[in-house]
Amino acid sequence: MKITVINGPNLNMLGIREPEIYGHATYADLEAFIRGSAKALGVEADIFQSNYEGALVEHIQQCLGTADAIVINPAAYTHTSVAILDALKAVGLPAVEVHLSDVHSREDFRKISYASLACVETIAGQGFAGYARAMELLLAL
Ligand code: DQA
Repeated sequence: MKITVINGPNLNMLGIREPEIYGHATYADLEAFIRGSAKALGVEADIFQSNYEGALVEHIQQCLGTADAIVINPAAYTHTSVAILDALKAVGLPAVEVHLSDVHSREDFRKISYASLACVETIAGQGFAGYARAMELLLAL
């Protein structure tokens, strides 16, 4: 099984950005965690990060025919992007939304997720472990 993991804006700043919320581990640590979890589950993971909405949309589109499922943390675009929602709907692949922090217990605007409308599940507040859980869920589908 091939899973594409897509991370949105500012996640490349992990380890530097708001450590009281996101912790001290870096984006490279997150990539290593995802690769290790994928290996343990026996799935192939392709990891992509961008700060640009259009690049995220294009990467979702490229999943058609190249991936079996998507794990996506759209980061701030979660709360604003109809384009990412439409791209997920367009490819129609099973997708799970992940957030490192518990978006439901933060500001009100973080409670809105457009992407969730095209995802089978949302995992929030579990830190890196959320990505492993998301891959497990997709494997079980
Ligand atoms: C985030 C939560 C978003 O609200 C925020 O904009 C992010 C990261 C998370 O992983 O907790 O950039 O998606």
